[in-house]
Amino acid sequence: MTPPADRATGQGSGKLILFGEHAVVWGARALATSLPDGALATVRHTPDAATRLTLLRDNQTLAQLAPDLQGGPLEQALATLIAHFECAEHGFDIRVDLNVPPGAGLGSSAALATAIARALATLYPSESNPRRIERAVEASEGIFHSSASGIDQAASLGQGLIHFEKGPPARCTALHDIPAFTIAICQAAPGASTATMVQGVTSRRAKAPERYRQLASMISDLVEDALEAMRTQDLTTLGELVNFNHGLLCAMGVSTHSLDHACHIAREAGSPGAKLTGAGGGGCVYALAHDPAHAQRLVHTWQEHGFQAFFTTIAG
Ligand code: MEV
Repeated sequence: MTPPADRATGQGSGKLILFGEHAVVWGARALATSLPDGALATVRHTPDAATRLTLLRDNQTLAQLAPDLQGGPLEQALATLIAHFECAEHGFDIRVDLNVPPGAGLGSSAALATAIARALATLYPSESNPRRIERAVEASEGIFHSSASGIDQAASLGQGLIHFEKGPPARCTALHDIPAFTIAICQAAPGASTATMVQGVTSRRAKAPERYRQLASMISDLVEDALEAMRTQDLTTLGELVNFNHGLLCAMGVSTHSLDHACHIAREAGSPGAKLTGAGGGGCVYALAHDPAHAQRLVHTWQEHGFQAFFTTIAG
């Protein structure tokens, strides 16, 4: 097949889970938001059939690798993505600029996969296979996360706030009626493997199924209460729900001293609520802010404690 173009770009969003990580894997409801510009991929044909990926963040090279189904997760993910686009006979030079920290619970793997898949879909359009991008990203995420709920790829493919249930069938609803609010995000520690964290919770849950059933039901209720608090702009109630969800994640054994410490710092700096986000074991926390100026102060406070931080506005 002659490709229609020599070069294409694609974009994938990062993600932030506001409520419901882990429990979403066993069927509870969850709320997440995309983080725009999580990854930007530029894909060019090479004169030979060799493909290589260069992964960068802040113009620093993080990794250079080739697709390999027997290799590490990134090598396998790249081979899997390419296999979805019937273009294996071509070689590509792929550059991905990551704008979210890798492996920190902000959906870097799904953002990367979405960005590459969208660029390949532009080079190799197919009317007969409209869901190729979703399928490619799903297969790639399956390599990074065992038993993935699908929430990361739903957020990385979408824009804005989503209400998500794993199903089957998975239900992902874009929430358009939520007034904007501001959060600050900090990376408290290097991220842990999502697959390892999910496996740890799965084995604790197997020992106490009834307790975890109640946890899942409580978290689904938290999600609905949080939506109501967002709609009515009741930041105090929303903050209590955020803190409650963090407490439940501690009960599941996925928080750490650094994550708890970052939450305490934010609450002492006036945040109505702070919690870990993503798989835990390290990675990021987010904190509600009263307004962008308060979010900026939260960022400075975390930075004074040596954490990397930024803030963003969440909107439906
Ligand atoms: C990881 O970002 C979120 C988890 O709930 C796993 C998943 O939903 O696939 C921990």
